[in-house]
Amino acid sequence: PAVMPAPAGALDPAALDEALTALPRPHLVAATAGTTDTGMIDPLPEIADVCAAHGARLHVDAAYGGGLLFSDRYRDLLAGLDAADSVTLDLHKLGWQPVAAGLLAVRDAADLAVLHHRADYLNAGDDTEAGLPDLLGRSLHTSRRPDALKIAVTLKTLGRSGLGRLVEQVCDGAREFAALVHEHPGFELHDRPTLSTVLFRPAHAADDDVAAVRRTLLTDGRAVLGRARADGRLWLKVTLLNPRTRTDDLAALLTLVEGNTPR
Ligand SMILES: Cc1ncc(COP(=O)(O)O)c(C=O)c1O
Repeated sequence: PAVMPAPAGALDPAALDEALTALPRPHLVAATAGTTDTGMIDPLPEIADVCAAHGARLHVDAAYGGGLLFSDRYRDLLAGLDAADSVTLDLHKLGWQPVAAGLLAVRDAADLAVLHHRADYLNAGDDTEAGLPDLLGRSLHTSRRPDALKIAVTLKTLGRSGLGRLVEQVCDGAREFAALVHEHPGFELHDRPTLSTVLFRPAHAADDDVAAVRRTLLTDGRAVLGRARADGRLWLKVTLLNPRTRTDDLAALLTLVEGNTPR
């Protein structure tokens, strides 16, 4: 199929097409909806088309970005996700659950057949026939915490639209922060945010100084910033996950970084 070039840092459908043409089958392609470093979303519709043309299975790691589905305003960013054979989604990221609240969703329930295992002490056949429940066939674990309960409580309490509002608050906050960085002559913005992650750095600073200001703020207990390497340089990373973060907090953070960058 005719494919558009991907933005830098995203899985390139044309390169994928070439790789799948060259490699022996079977193929499993893992795309990402919300990368850890920048929050970028791979071009899922184009990747799904390439996978379909090659008979490749498509997995999408939507651990970070999957929460966009809750928001009517942002869910279109995940167009193409429905073409995946399997999707992972972490509700301890854009879902506000305590860890762990990871989910694996599969298109075809038969894909979970590998999890079926019979052992008399776990699931005696006559018990299964009598309708007694067990987790085999649904989970990779035998013993595990009831993670589904807290997710169910949150969904019952906030509903999809309630969670969607929280997602919108952090994604909108990231756009506000990016605008503050962009307007400030002392800072450089890596890119406009896709999710709730913003990479920025003090203008003209060396990588060592970027690393140093982050460590200073961390060890002084003033701010916990992430770090990421992109385009060959080190960046400070803000991943907004607190919906109560206000513009004032974001402006104060920038002032803090400015005042603590080695000159
Ligand atoms: C894109 C992505 N996938 C997967 C993970 C793994 O997270 P966890 O081990 O909490 O499920 C992360 C963590 O940051 C992530 O950003």
